[in-house]
Amino acid sequence: MFLTETQLGVQALAREFVQKDLNPVLSVLETGDLNTLKAMWQRMADIGLTGLPFPEEYGGSAVDSLSYFLVLEEIAKASSALATSLSVHVSLGGLPILYYGTDDQKARYLPDVVQAKKIGAFALTEPNAGSDAGSGLTKAEKNGSGYVLNGSKLFITNAFIASFFVSTARTNREISGAKGLTAFLVDTETPGLVIHEGDEKMGLKGSDWGELTFEDCKVPEAQRLSEEGVGFKIFMKSLDIGRISIGAISLGVAEACLDASLEYAKQRYQFGKTLSEFQAIQMKLADMAMQIEAARSLVYSAARLKEAGLPFSKEASMAKCYASEMCNACAREAVQIFGGYGYTKDFPVERYFRDARVMSLFEGTSQIQRTVIAKHLLKG
Ligand code: CAA
Repeated sequence: MFLTETQLGVQALAREFVQKDLNPVLSVLETGDLNTLKAMWQRMADIGLTGLPFPEEYGGSAVDSLSYFLVLEEIAKASSALATSLSVHVSLGGLPILYYGTDDQKARYLPDVVQAKKIGAFALTEPNAGSDAGSGLTKAEKNGSGYVLNGSKLFITNAFIASFFVSTARTNREISGAKGLTAFLVDTETPGLVIHEGDEKMGLKGSDWGELTFEDCKVPEAQRLSEEGVGFKIFMKSLDIGRISIGAISLGVAEACLDASLEYAKQRYQFGKTLSEFQAIQMKLADMAMQIEAARSLVYSAARLKEAGLPFSKEASMAKCYASEMCNACAREAVQIFGGYGYTKDFPVERYFRDARVMSLFEGTSQIQRTVIAKHLLKG
């Protein structure tokens, strides 16, 4: 697919980072070692990968949207965990401040976001509010010149490396749904914010997650993102970008599955010939390649719509839904091609299989993506 010189350059930079910096420490990163994760963040910041889509006035590279998604795809070929960590920081941490923040908030946060001196996280999900994200119960009560937050959040990627959380809380308790929610920037060191270990995850071991509780957590008014009552819309618009990001990450994982399968099929002998000589295996490889190209079209075209300033919510959901399901299918087939070895930790496809599973769960399940797509279709 045609890429511009900038896009090719940024893609090459990400590839070099993966080869030189990430691959040598991948096995340690994937044990969940936070120090290695932090070292990778430092390196990504040093070479400019953490500030790609941000304007130059904040120190960013102001590259186009697709360039940023290409970086996520490249990193995900090695570690979807690190790619997810980066994507949460940029798509769901920094960009909401760029798009909806005051000048003061942008000045206070964005230069540090770009350099990853401040890593961002996104706190929407609550124990009772997963797919039904508008039903969150965390409350923010007005108190003098600020708000007092009480409640809890879970499944928060970057919880232990973040400096701030873009979080929803209910400022209007008369309204039980989405319109009662407001967005806040809550700094990690805010008294009353407690960060807990999350449950053990199936995959994405190389990125951290945790749970938050707000216990009479006082947040100044200057930390409110936009007006009261528009928090849900801000979160949904941010997730539109996040969903293209997860589509790109899914694409990367699927490509890794195909690459590993091709290599293995060419060198593994059974019945006196390589696996690649069996038509049954060739059909699998061909299907994987075809589905990857179909997903690539959806992901890149959603990115291009965003870049052109056109509506892209429906297309983001299509890209995320298709690419994440395709990624799961490719991971399943990769394990099948590897046979018993694919079920061991000696080969990376076992990790791809576990990592793939969350792609069709987080940032909206496949069923939620289809709901979004159908809503757009029905409203015409
Ligand atoms: N852009 C702008 N506005 C939007 C919007 C969008 N993409 N989506 C919805 N809205 C607006 C609607 O227009 C509506 O406003 P009006 O009433 O003024 O028209 C308002 O928001 C409420 O919309 P809905 O009635 O559609 O809301 P709903 O309660 O029915 O929910 C939903 C819609 C699509 C199901 C939504 O709740 C959703 O996306 N759920 C999934 C949640 C999710 O993705 N969670 C991810 C967790 S974060 C995570 O995983 C990050 C991580 O750490 C990796």
